[in-house]
Amino acid sequence: MKNILITGGAGFIGCHVVKLFVEKYPDYTIVNIDNLTYAGNLENLKVVETAPNYKFIKADICDRAHIKEIFETYGIDTVVHLAAESHVDRSITNPFEFAQTNIMGTLTLLNQAKESWKDDMTGKMFYHISTDEVFGSLGDSGYFLEDTSYDPQSPYSASKASSDHFVRAYHNTYGLPVLVTNCSNNYGPNQFPEKLIPLFINNILNEKPLPVYGAGLNIRDWLYVVDHARAIDVVLHKGKVGETYNIGGFNEWSNIDLIKVICREMDNKLQKPAGTSEKLISYVTDRAGHDMRYAIDSSKLKEELGWEPSLQFEEGIVKTIDWYLDNLDWMERIVSGDYQEYYNKQYK
Ligand code: NAD
Ligand code: TYD
Repeated sequence: MKNILITGGAGFIGCHVVKLFVEKYPDYTIVNIDNLTYAGNLENLKVVETAPNYKFIKADICDRAHIKEIFETYGIDTVVHLAAESHVDRSITNPFEFAQTNIMGTLTLLNQAKESWKDDMTGKMFYHISTDEVFGSLGDSGYFLEDTSYDPQSPYSASKASSDHFVRAYHNTYGLPVLVTNCSNNYGPNQFPEKLIPLFINNILNEKPLPVYGAGLNIRDWLYVVDHARAIDVVLHKGKVGETYNIGGFNEWSNIDLIKVICREMDNKLQKPAGTSEKLISYVTDRAGHDMRYAIDSSKLKEELGWEPSLQFEEGIVKTIDWYLDNLDWMERIVSGDYQEYYNKQYK
């Protein structure tokens, strides 16, 4: 039995974690808090919204009084912390929002956990979800390991790095039981169409240009989001207190190669002549400070806790495209709001 507080559960990764936990652990109480920023969408959680072991509360992780009340009301003994501002491009235009949510929000949760659990830390856990971007950018070779030095390059990764440091500081200073995972780029259903894969699927559907930053040679390691949720489940239940685990897919793609796969699959699905979608590719000004390559070594997680990705990328990307094509209404509702304003500003 656990009373788990999941933060950011209405977002992309969070909704898959919430769904997995609510369905797999009927004896746990799952409290999902999210303040429903542009990236939070309760539609992502329709299948669990009436489950008896699930409760949604609209709350800001920076609101100390509200967080205290939630810890006390639900006897929270476990935190799985995903809430964050998560898009690098937005962090370039609005770094203060990233510092506020990612650093101050994490600190607020850590401090409440410390206060609530100070008399007895047994059976308690603060699990912080982070990114491989804290390690900075790699050259042509090498991988991020758990002990790779932090070298964040964007306001987003700097704010995540800072929050990771606070989590470890609360472990070292106050003995708070913590776990940290640093994961590579996720893809799959329910991702907000500001990130590469859903953005490009949507633009192909609407025959809009596909804005490739720079020469499209930057490399990312891609992991199917449900595999990330499975890894979070494994780490929460089997991870060693105070440890960090890297999570990745051993699945590196240059942006341009990945985009060509999406274009090919979309031509297939939409029954268009081969090469139709690729004609939409448009090279645009590079992202400022664009990290060249991320590649994560997740062997510790495999060797110590037995997790590995269940899906090959070729299968995962087809499943992903199928989901967006089967859920055109979901996309339609997102792009009909403030999204247009964001899009016009970002892509002029
Ligand atoms: P997302 O932007 O889709 O979702 C973030 C969620 O947090 C949204 O529902 C939003 O409403 C909520 N939120 C934002 N500010 C909040 C606040 N002040 N209080 C309460 N809720 C708030 O992000 P995501 O892609 O699902 O990422 C989730 C976590 O995983 C983040 O911590 C991110 O850094 C990390 N991560 C993401 C990736 C990736 O590829 N997307 C990879 C590795 C790690
Ligand atoms: P993104 O999905 O924003 O994830 P991250 O920056 O966290 O890795 O971007 C993935 C890659 O795709 C990254 O190298 C930037 C590139 N990209 C484009 O080329 N064009 C775009 O419009 C976007 C959003 C991203």
